[in-house]
Amino acid sequence: MIRKPLETVRIAFIGCGVISNNHMRYYTQMDNVKVVAACDIDKPRLEAWCAKYGVENMYTDYREMLKRDDIDSVDICVHNNLHLPMTLAVLRSGRHCFCEKPMAASYKDAKRMYDEWQRLKAETGVELAVQIDTIFKPQTRLAKKMIENGELGHVYYIRCLGHRRRNRPGLDSDLSVNFYNKELAGHGAVFDMGVYHIAQMLYILGLPKLERVTGSCYLEPPRNEKMLEGREFGVEDLGLGFARYENGLTFEFMESWALHVDDVGSSFIAGSLGGLRFTNEEVRGRNWPAPGLKFITTKDERDIDIDLRVNDYENNFYEKKLDPVTQYDSNFEHWIAYLTGKIDERINTALITLHTAFLSEGIFLSSELGREIRAEEIEELSESIALKTQETPWGTFEYEL
Ligand SMILES: NC(=O)c1ccc[n+]([C@@H]2O[C@H](COP(=O)([O-])OP(=O)(O)OC[C@H]3O[C@@H](n4cnc5c(N)ncnc54)[C@H](O)[C@@H]3O)[C@@H](O)[C@H]2O)c1
Repeated sequence: MIRKPLETVRIAFIGCGVISNNHMRYYTQMDNVKVVAACDIDKPRLEAWCAKYGVENMYTDYREMLKRDDIDSVDICVHNNLHLPMTLAVLRSGRHCFCEKPMAASYKDAKRMYDEWQRLKAETGVELAVQIDTIFKPQTRLAKKMIENGELGHVYYIRCLGHRRRNRPGLDSDLSVNFYNKELAGHGAVFDMGVYHIAQMLYILGLPKLERVTGSCYLEPPRNEKMLEGREFGVEDLGLGFARYENGLTFEFMESWALHVDDVGSSFIAGSLGGLRFTNEEVRGRNWPAPGLKFITTKDERDIDIDLRVNDYENNFYEKKLDPVTQYDSNFEHWIAYLTGKIDERINTALITLHTAFLSEGIFLSSELGREIRAEEIEELSESIALKTQETPWGTFEYEL
């Protein structure tokens, strides 16, 4: 079933924490979006958020909010292990759902989300998107096109890197302490920043089939006990992976929140005819997903490096005009364009993040088992870690998975 395009998308929020403000940064600039309601179990936070954005309808229980009849789509901005239960509740209520990354904190939960979405989409036409902004970067668009055009030849080696020397969210920065709470977050660096980088590479490569993977996860540099205030730091600060994909592709991975290394370089994709270097930009002393792209090749026995001007207006003008579906520079613009019928196809971010969860889970399972594992074993061994119950100031919430 396909739903009729909406004129205005009436949105509700579950979770009014840090990242919800990023969603609002985009929505407040769009004429065809109206935020009609919001829910958070932290009442003062909810009230401050609603006052800031002029949202009148406030809820501390998402089930009550979902009883409204003026909601078209819900943004899920709670922590990782609540993504599955909340997304299922939203989709089952007949609303579209836009969920924060990671899709879920285990492959099993991500797969459950994907399969249930597919089943409900066939019945009611509901749509699911997962926030993953590296997919919408100009360099991702260009790199994907160059590979599809064969400009790199046979792509056989990827190095996918994300490096923070010391920036564990909630401990070294002012973000939520739930980033390192095992029960809520499930995992650390790999499922936090790692998913952005893995998703970008897998999307550029056209979602290749994973064959086997070896991984190691660590929690090493000491945590300041005073800053922890008695909380347990329950997730990894470093994840390493070495994966083999179909067609002889090797995928090397590293993602750190804390690592005593000054510079690890940046991600690249190497092919028989040419390579692409994703250049990093320092923003507030941190490396954010790569904003630049360099093409490295050899012609007539001369080595040639070309800085691709991916952020140029002119280059982007052609890229965007020639491909309406991938023309959007943000998750949010793309999602709203689809729901309002400006485009009739969209990038399947749920599928991309499902493939991402598959590799991420393989890295964990391999690390736990201390050996290489095959793709089929990830399917067999991955377990659900999504919350089934949650203690809140408003009683115990039971989640139906
Ligand atoms: N903060 C970032 O920079 C960032 C960036 C990208 C993605 N994300 C993702 O967004 C998610 C949330 O991160 P955050 O930084 O906004 O966390 P946060 O702790 O600031 O916000 C989460 C909010 O969810 C609320 N909440 C918890 N249980 C709830 C329930 N049952 N019903 C309603 N509200 C509930 C909490 O009270 C809190 O206000 C995480 O999955 C994270 O990976 C965060």
